[in-house]
Amino acid sequence: MSEFLWGTATSAHQVEGHNVHNDWWTFERRFTPSGAACDFVGHLEGDLDRAAALGTNAFRFSLEWSRVEPRPGERDPDGVAFYERLVAGCRARGLAPVLTLSHFTLPRWCEGGWLSPATLEAFERHVAWVAERFGGEVEWFVTVNEPNVMAGAGYLAGVFPPGHRFRPDLADRCLEALVRAHGRAYRVLHQDVPRHHGGRRPRVGIAPHVVAWRVSRLDPLGITRRIGERFDWAVLDACKTGRLALTWRTADVPEAAGTLDFAGLNYYMALPADAPSFLRFAGLLHRPPGPGTNDLGWPIEPAGFEEVLVEAHRRLQVPILVTENGTADAADRLRPAFLREHVAALRRARARGADVVGYLHWSLLDNFEWHEGYGPRFGLYAVDYATQARTPRPSCEVYRALIAEGVELAPTTPVTKEAIA
Ligand code: FCB
Repeated sequence: MSEFLWGTATSAHQVEGHNVHNDWWTFERRFTPSGAACDFVGHLEGDLDRAAALGTNAFRFSLEWSRVEPRPGERDPDGVAFYERLVAGCRARGLAPVLTLSHFTLPRWCEGGWLSPATLEAFERHVAWVAERFGGEVEWFVTVNEPNVMAGAGYLAGVFPPGHRFRPDLADRCLEALVRAHGRAYRVLHQDVPRHHGGRRPRVGIAPHVVAWRVSRLDPLGITRRIGERFDWAVLDACKTGRLALTWRTADVPEAAGTLDFAGLNYYMALPADAPSFLRFAGLLHRPPGPGTNDLGWPIEPAGFEEVLVEAHRRLQVPILVTENGTADAADRLRPAFLREHVAALRRARARGADVVGYLHWSLLDNFEWHEGYGPRFGLYAVDYATQARTPRPSCEVYRALIAEGVELAPTTPVTKEAIA
């Protein structure tokens, strides 16, 4: 049995700075330009030291495709060297690299985005290159981060590129393309990594965003809840069965069937399933922070974490890697309890049989939060964007202590909302 993975998670565009060749770089001008972000490129060694100082043994990052291939077929040697240093730096510190292939961005030259078949072809070639270059040092691969959010935010809410609103037809096509991209990436990695690297087997999964939906007073029949659940589980289900549930139809995606070495899962909140929640979730309606919510107004509910882990196990029967969980809390007022209660929920889910193999906290550092800009502070380490100075928040100690206790610690009884208020 391999060791439980304790880690932190990041993504390229949110931390590196100056990803000038991807679609977000132009799109984000309508909100906040990402600029230098937290200059992870310039602070690589120190930031990996900071990750290791927490006592973690894993580090999740995304390899920004446009940084290594800024123009079709053209490699950027500096970009490639950066990821080589990153992977070597992880390994030198005992951090298992968890490499995400697609985390919300695409090279600008991928015209038509995920709706274009040419993008899928190019992605497959890119993954083959990654397999050859990095498959000897990286074991864990997340193919696509939150395909459900990408499709919804890009084609329903319009807050991600390409910025379409209320186009369920296009959101469906995007989701289908992303699931196909995952299936193809899975097969390429499983074929090419062993071929180039002496039989080594990669571990490949995908990471949707999963909410614990509650029946709302506004919809006592729970119709909206079923919509929410469908939105959340469709991707993982499709990667098991090869059938993808979309808005009005079900698509056959045979290339995705049986492609989960693990189920990735990003969990942040429980929500009442109703129209206002959907609009807030889509970033179209703002909820002011209040008691029991974080700085973004997201309700905190560790019990929902236990529920979704147990549900993932029930549906999929594969190992589960928590690829993200965290909270926006500049003052670090809620995060210490958030961490303790979510890790307790994870331990309970394991005690109930869910094969949870790792927990990656979002995030190591404060970073660029997409259309929300630099306001939300998700970091265990605070970043002063004027000076790029990093300061550990008190939660660093909390996380370190939880890791030292180990995941096998006897699970506690369920927490109440009051316990974290
Ligand atoms: C997730 C995204 C991640 C980050 C966190 C806060 O939905 O995957 O990039 O923005 O939310």
